[in-house]
Amino acid sequence: MDKPVIVVTRSIAQSAVDRLQNSGQITIWPEHEPPTYQQLVQMVKDCDGLLCLLTDRIDDHLIQGAPRLSVISTMSVGYEHIDLNACRRRGIKVGHTPDVLTDSTADFTVALILSVARRIPEAVEYARSGLWSTWDPGLLLGHDLFGKTVGIVGMGRIGEAVAQRIKAFGSNLVYHDPIQRTEVELELNARSVTFEELLTEADITTLHVPLTNQTHHLISYPQLRMMKPTALLINTSRGKVVDTEALLHALQNGEIKAAGLDVTDPEPLPADHPLYKLPNCLITPHIASAGTATRTKMAHMAVDNLLAGIKGGPLPYPVT
Ligand code: DGY
Repeated sequence: MDKPVIVVTRSIAQSAVDRLQNSGQITIWPEHEPPTYQQLVQMVKDCDGLLCLLTDRIDDHLIQGAPRLSVISTMSVGYEHIDLNACRRRGIKVGHTPDVLTDSTADFTVALILSVARRIPEAVEYARSGLWSTWDPGLLLGHDLFGKTVGIVGMGRIGEAVAQRIKAFGSNLVYHDPIQRTEVELELNARSVTFEELLTEADITTLHVPLTNQTHHLISYPQLRMMKPTALLINTSRGKVVDTEALLHALQNGEIKAAGLDVTDPEPLPADHPLYKLPNCLITPHIASAGTATRTKMAHMAVDNLLAGIKGGPLPYPVT
């Protein structure tokens, strides 16, 4: 029997690639930039197993053009880039990499909160550019976390990990989630509130929801107007959860104080986008999970899914 054909859409940890070597005929996309959609369609047309990333659009058309495809393994926890209905119709198994990035993402979220609240990038730039001439009581004043209310939208795994870390800063915690998390309330003294209450009460709102039809533009003009003018908005979930135009308007007009975004819409945000020009908007290039160990583990989990799938077995980390 022919060896299965496996396509990997970007360079991933070598130790994970090594595990694929004896299992099939492997093609790895060699560029830093992802393949275009057309290139991807070409790459997968004869393949049995696909290891992809969140930058690859896996839609019905692509799936129909790959009649042998039996498993899609995405090296990401999010899978909104994959048409699951099309996969179900074809009986294609889909796996992802849940849990592994929870702590890295929570660490990074706290780093982003502190960077925005204490204006660290501005301060670094100030010192580097030679403007630092004296100790100034009013220089680069920011927000403390102590005593402030942090609102967590989405108390799933990452939301909870953020809450645990924030607790150590002496902040008050409120959260909004369709599921009441009684144990988190008891352990962290977090209060469950409505979405509107969270927006009006929180000094810092941090988003930890998956992208769905319900969460698309969850934060838009009306929601930003409900927030305090001193409020900070942090997004390490998905760019489309926030309406970019509405956020730009709110930051430019002082409707909220500042934002920290690890994810944007569009993503990547074009280099000439006006959000980059605002000193009260800190943007990082979707790196919340970018711990070396975490990314290596993600690659191995993606390989675990792929290898199980091409052998015809159940995936260890299936998409539900
Ligand atoms: C994921 O895996 O969905 C993350 O967004 C990657 O950082």
